[in-house]
Amino acid sequence: MNSASKIYDPLYRWFEANKRVLPWRETSDPYKIWVSEIILQQTRVQQGLEYYMRFVERFPDVATMARATEDEVLRLWQGLGYYTRARNMYKGAQMIAERWGGVFPTTFDDIRAIPGVGEYTAGAIASFAYDLPYPALDGNVYRVLARLNDCDVVFDTTAGKKHFHSLAQRMLDEVHPRLFNSAIMELGALQCVPREPDCTACPLRHYCLAYAHHMVEVLPVRKPRPVVQDRELNYAIYLCPQTNEQGQKVVYTLLRQRTEKDIWHHLWEFPQQETSAPSAQRELTFTHLLSHRRLHATFRVYPVTSLPAIPDTIAVAWTALDDYALSRLTLRALQALQ
Ligand code: ADE
Repeated sequence: MNSASKIYDPLYRWFEANKRVLPWRETSDPYKIWVSEIILQQTRVQQGLEYYMRFVERFPDVATMARATEDEVLRLWQGLGYYTRARNMYKGAQMIAERWGGVFPTTFDDIRAIPGVGEYTAGAIASFAYDLPYPALDGNVYRVLARLNDCDVVFDTTAGKKHFHSLAQRMLDEVHPRLFNSAIMELGALQCVPREPDCTACPLRHYCLAYAHHMVEVLPVRKPRPVVQDRELNYAIYLCPQTNEQGQKVVYTLLRQRTEKDIWHHLWEFPQQETSAPSAQRELTFTHLLSHRRLHATFRVYPVTSLPAIPDTIAVAWTALDDYALSRLTLRALQALQ
């Protein structure tokens, strides 16, 4: 018995009474758990649910995803942002198909070798799918551990992660790793929330050192946030009515794929010029937040009788825009136009 074993009973009772019913909790299929974890890496559960259902319906197993094209995976991902996750998931499916004959790997080290799978995700898959005794530290779990132990070690550094990982390994219920990881994660999501948690309702308040020491609100400690970079993007939305070969009227526009090593790698958008100062007369303007950037975007509509020759762009029928993996900012502009 480890010293944390006293929290198991109240934690599990609370979990059984309060847990959300989530489809990836009703399965032990490692593939589906992997898909859910990749989606949930930077997405809220409510939004992630819809995408999870879509993905497992279209790709019920690794082999089906591996046979698809990257573009189809990206299109299904559209709107979730952070597209590296989708590209890695697709690469991962191909790797599992090639290296393991389509059978999802069963050891922590093999799972960890899948592109896009880090310490957290490997621990989550190993414990949720195979009930293996690995901790899974996501943001929620760091918070619960920091508070339970009144630990002010900065958690989002290499040294901090190591510290919390060994703390989690010591507290882990080795008899029920799946249950322990799910319950502690859910406690962080629902009860031990970042701001103003209702500690009087917490099943672990009698064991919580931060609660005893009035340290709940200041924990966990993270390193200072990097400065946000402001950028000004000026988009041109060309609208060019033409008659196609079948004699139908079609509105064409120009799209360009981003190939530079920068935000939205590989995604499509309207032709764009970046300026250093905000542009004066604005038509459609948006402020769009990425993790480390604040984008100020202006979209102007240009009705034209022929499309200008802009390098690297392609003419696309307005009704075919759905066929391209567009950045979320571009989708916002389209929604505002419609
Ligand atoms: N966030 C990340 N993984 C999760 C899971 N398995 N259940 C609920 N929220 C999560």
